[in-house]
Amino acid sequence: MSLEPIKERGLVLLGCGKMGSAMLAGWLAGGLPAGSVWVLDPNPSDWLRGTGVHINEGLPDAPAVALIAVKPQMMGDALPSMQALGNGDTVFLSVAAGTSIATFESALGAQSPIIRAMPNTPAAIGRGITAMIGNAHATPAHLDMAEALLQAVGQVVRLEHEGQMDAVTAVSGSGPAYVFHLIETLAKAGEAEGLPADLAMALAKATVGGAGQLAEDAVEDPGQLRVNVTSPNGTTQAALEVLMDKEDGFPSLLRRAVKAAADRSRELSRG
Ligand SMILES: NC(=O)c1ccc[n+]([C@@H]2O[C@H](COP(=O)([O-])OP(=O)(O)OC[C@H]3O[C@@H](n4cnc5c(N)ncnc54)[C@H](OP(=O)(O)O)[C@@H]3O)[C@@H](O)[C@H]2O)c1
Repeated sequence: MSLEPIKERGLVLLGCGKMGSAMLAGWLAGGLPAGSVWVLDPNPSDWLRGTGVHINEGLPDAPAVALIAVKPQMMGDALPSMQALGNGDTVFLSVAAGTSIATFESALGAQSPIIRAMPNTPAAIGRGITAMIGNAHATPAHLDMAEALLQAVGQVVRLEHEGQMDAVTAVSGSGPAYVFHLIETLAKAGEAEGLPADLAMALAKATVGGAGQLAEDAVEDPGQLRVNVTSPNGTTQAALEVLMDKEDGFPSLLRRAVKAAADRSRELSRG
């Protein structure tokens, strides 16, 4: 089992905020003993104190994994505490947006196994999707172990090269915000058609949530699901003619939005 090395050698979690806590909750619920986890965080939450993990104590000599879940801007302060674990068999697994593998290699040692991962906010309810990519020292066993850990907060996909991370950030990393905005604007449009605000919002939330679940579960692809609910000359078709307009519909709008996010991600990772 991929998590056996963690039970034997331990796991270090650097930064236990929203993402770190969501993952830790998943591991503990999945049977990882609290005694195998060492957390470093300047302000441990009450929840964290109640878990029974080691908090701000001396670290094991060679933990199986050091998971880095601090904000990118705290990295410079936080990484020195990890340097002693570098260039060995401890896998560094980072979920920090925009911090490159090369940055970790220069801070932690070029021989260190390093895996960069990009989760998204539905991780908080175990419904995230995380993309990951390892450096040359990350072995298949290391990648399997990282995948098993990341599955605590949802699905995991593997990338072919780190350059894909900017597009991943633009689609699934930032994507939940696009969907939240879709909910807001769908509700506003319902209000404009005469619905009370709270009813319009309830309809919009449940429609996006339900359709998202259906799209994930169905055998048909989303394009087919759309066709299935579009009767000729019906109401859905009337709306889709607006939304699917080549000039100013969803296709060109989302293309521009996703490109803007990917471009910004490339800019940020250049520093
Ligand atoms: N939240 C998400 O959905 C999401 C999605 C994708 C990627 N990420 C990535 O996940 C990482 C964490 O994000 P988050 O949302 O969980 O942020 P967060 O809630 O601010 O958590 C970061 C934690 O690290 C602690 N910390 C700060 N300096 C530290 C240090 N020197 N040593 C150890 N711990 C330190 C912070 O403590 P204080 O609060 O006391 O400063 C905080 O508890 C980020 O790099 C982010 O890019 C998050």
